[in-house]
Amino acid sequence: MDAPTPKPTQQAPSKAQRPQRVIALMNQKGGVGKTTTTVNLAAAFARAGRSTLVVDLDPQAHATLHLGVDPSEVHMGVYNALVDTSIEPASTVRRVRDNLAIMPAVTDLAGVETELASMPDRQRRLEKALHALADRYEFVLLDCPPSLGLLTINGLCAAREVIIPMQAHYLAMQGVGKLLETIQLVTANINADLKVLGVVLCMHDNASTHTREVVQEVEGFFKQARGMDVPWKHARVVRPPVRRNIKLAEAPSYGQTIFEYAPNASGSEDYNAIAWSLLGEWDAMLAQQEEAEVVVPARKMAGNGPGNGPSNGPGKPGQGADGGLATNGVVAGAGGVAAP
Ligand SMILES: Nc1ncnc2c1ncn2[C@@H]1O[C@H](COP(=O)(O)OP(=O)(O)OP(=O)(O)O)[C@@H](O)[C@H]1O
Ligand SMILES: [Mg+2]
Repeated sequence: MDAPTPKPTQQAPSKAQRPQRVIALMNQKGGVGKTTTTVNLAAAFARAGRSTLVVDLDPQAHATLHLGVDPSEVHMGVYNALVDTSIEPASTVRRVRDNLAIMPAVTDLAGVETELASMPDRQRRLEKALHALADRYEFVLLDCPPSLGLLTINGLCAAREVIIPMQAHYLAMQGVGKLLETIQLVTANINADLKVLGVVLCMHDNASTHTREVVQEVEGFFKQARGMDVPWKHARVVRPPVRRNIKLAEAPSYGQTIFEYAPNASGSEDYNAIAWSLLGEWDAMLAQQEEAEVVVPARKMAGNGPGNGPSNGPGKPGQGADGGLATNGVVAGAGGVAAP
């Protein structure tokens, strides 16, 4: 039996009206579940009929391999999109499943940070490439490497949201504190629109007391940030946690997602449930925004006149009056790119 596809809770607006939602999956700690979460969440969105792009920003090329693409045979990918601004970004992307495409890591990606270092706009290359693809993909998931170099910075510049995959261990939590500081630096200097969506707990073992204590601590930390002027003020621990499941570790060696390799495994259930909840919130937020855009022109016709409505006006999906409404921790205003 095939795993059930996630069902958004509300009728989604048509693709033409949906802005691009760019999410970076980031944690400078290695082996925490970034790639597994990127690939399987992307696959769940694609199975729900949402046009989705995975960008493999990691020279290890694990997301590329996970989706069944051999990096040694890739001639166009992230490297080309970042280094050669004259090429068409669409030529760096390949379709791998229904509704699912990848901008793969190529073998040269390891040297890209050195090459980019002397180039103008070196932090915003990915942002520009994704902007050119905004009409094609509703969801763009960025699999970041376990480091804070220029590849990750390009990811953080291009994204509107960050998901932090982590394991609920004491030391991992300390690492997340450092990561949040980095994100705050990025918001202060290069991408003011960046928000932390939350933490996805990977390889989770709910039976351990230590794990439960760490989760409580992370939740308490996010709760304290409500109302503060920090990029994680809407962040949360995303539910459900992804349980430890050997099928998730086996699937990449077959170049398959968990939904293809083991549709009945707990890994399939958990990633599907996360996708379902994120899609439901996203659709609810878009519907709310659409409603507001219908109401505003009606008010204008009733005599309020231009200037009293939102400055962005109707017809700019993804941007609220303040360019970034937040609903249930989901950041709106993902209509493409941050202001330069
Ligand atoms: N829920 C899970 N249950 C069991 N194994 C898992 C689970 N999630 C991930 N793994 C395995 O743990 C290892 C690390 O996961 P993954 O590659 O996703 O981490 P990563 O953060 O992307 O690593 P890196 O920092 O090297 O890029 C992989 O072998 C993966 O298959
Ligand atoms: Mg990885």
